[in-house]
Amino acid sequence: MKVLITESIADESVQYLKDQGYEVEEYLGHSQEEIEQYIKGFDALIVRSATKVGPSLLANADCLKAVGRAGTGIDNIDVKACTDHGVIALNTPTANNMAAGELAVGHAFNVFRYIPTANEGVHNGDYRRGNWVGYELEGKTAGVIGLGRIGSIVARKLKGIGMNVIAYDPYIAAEKFEKLGVGRCQTLDELLEQVDLITLHTPKTKETYNIIAKEQLYKCKRGVRIVNAARGGLVNEQDLADALAEGQVAAAAIDVFDKEPSYNKKPGDQEFDNVLLHAPNCYITPHLGASTVEATAKVGQGIVELIDGALKGEIVAALNMPQFSGSVDEIRPYCSLAEKIGLMYFQAEGKPITKVEVRYRGELATNSGTGIITLSLIMGILKGMGNEHVSYVNAQESIDECGIEVVETKDETIMRYNNLINVKFYTEDGRELKINGTVFTPNTEVIVSFFGYEMNCPLSSTVLAIKNNDVPGVIGRIATILGKHNINIVSMHWGRKNQDGSDNKHAQAFVATEQPVSEKIIKELEGAEGVLKVSLLDLE
Ligand code: NAD
Ligand code: MLT
Repeated sequence: MKVLITESIADESVQYLKDQGYEVEEYLGHSQEEIEQYIKGFDALIVRSATKVGPSLLANADCLKAVGRAGTGIDNIDVKACTDHGVIALNTPTANNMAAGELAVGHAFNVFRYIPTANEGVHNGDYRRGNWVGYELEGKTAGVIGLGRIGSIVARKLKGIGMNVIAYDPYIAAEKFEKLGVGRCQTLDELLEQVDLITLHTPKTKETYNIIAKEQLYKCKRGVRIVNAARGGLVNEQDLADALAEGQVAAAAIDVFDKEPSYNKKPGDQEFDNVLLHAPNCYITPHLGASTVEATAKVGQGIVELIDGALKGEIVAALNMPQFSGSVDEIRPYCSLAEKIGLMYFQAEGKPITKVEVRYRGELATNSGTGIITLSLIMGILKGMGNEHVSYVNAQESIDECGIEVVETKDETIMRYNNLINVKFYTEDGRELKINGTVFTPNTEVIVSFFGYEMNCPLSSTVLAIKNNDVPGVIGRIATILGKHNINIVSMHWGRKNQDGSDNKHAQAFVATEQPVSEKIIKELEGAEGVLKVSLLDLE
């Protein structure tokens, strides 16, 4: 499989992908248009903040299965468009938090102490230190807008250097403010009226775009200072430049522009311009928030591991998958079991269905990841129906298109098993067929009921599901036929009685074999006396 990288990530991370057997191409320093033409034939794409992944790129991405944003902000990724194209969208939301937080704190020092201009002056032979008398941060009030991962780091660090920290974040509960010892502002205006320093840490959304413009700047004390190491456009650039020129804002530090330059071009080739480049007391860094050795390594490794997992069809924490609070490891075996149940139904029965009901019982019912387990079941069903291109991101849409209703319910009552997945398939001809399964420690997937027959069958990759008359001699005949063809039986499990007691003339066998079983042998088994139906369950 082929992976395209359009913005630089750590060399070790590129090597990691190569070591996993991927064909990797680094296509750096190219225009958006060039990337959109080049994307054809690639299975995965890795970008940072400059490459825009939206409808025009996706329209040409004939093989794309996953896009990885090596970093936090996803304003350059159209997640909805990715979902519409069945492309898994990934990012590394925690890997560069510390780096970005530290840069913002560094800039907080710059805007109070003018360190970059003093440095520049000295290098130009100007040692008149009286020109660069700053202000102490200790005792000043910092206003953090957005108290998420990075905002919290910045708040903690600014408190550590003696600032009084207040914050505005309407989506964060009061407890977090209390825990951080940060004053909670109910409105943005409440923050603006008090602060000596504003530091922004929100994503760029319709709501936060230009959240600080002329009106907000003039609600602050004269001489306020501003740091934006989050996203360009959160502060209106023209309004900030005007307020700097006029003295309402004493100094600003900007790591990000609304429209970003190319970060690969040499100085002579760079055509970028921005009003803030000409504003007084404005310190600018070229989107350096994540640029530490540690963050580069974490972001790169994080994204290549996610891409690798996504391309291998594993459950990965994707932006366009149901979000849940638990660990992927906890639900992984249930996802695997659910997918097999979906697959088994079609391999054993093959009749079209109109509806599927999945009920999570016991402890599993309290898990926030059942949405993903249901998606796994849907993937199994669709694969059973011959859809080879189904993934976690397009499973729901694909089953909707098939007109199959999927209903998820939960029941925390613990009966015989601590955790149970009950799946009921409603066939077009009005029948209800049930498959129930559980997972025993450590990660053994077990079918406990199959089409009404109770059993206790650990799943293996190839199983023969055999329905037969419940009379002496049938097992012997099945074993003899398999033995004659040199097929070793790994395990055999029988379900003898219908749960409702209505059918005790038949039995359901699950026979796991070491060697593959051909169509011809299946026909021979079906012809044996007492055997009613044989289905090969290929659960790889
Ligand atoms: P996060 O999602 O953890 O936190 C964002 C916070 O903003 C959330 O708590 C959210 O409730 C809050 N928020 C949303 N809308 C708001 C509004 N209207 N008013 C106030 N608060 C609002 O994100 P994060 O990981 O902390 O990242 C913060 C920003 O930093 C993002 O824009 C990210 O892209 C950027 N970032 C920049 C760099 C860099 O190199 N400069 C590096 C990493 C992240
Ligand atoms: C991020 O959102 O992770 C940062 O802006 C860093 C980057 O773009 O690489």
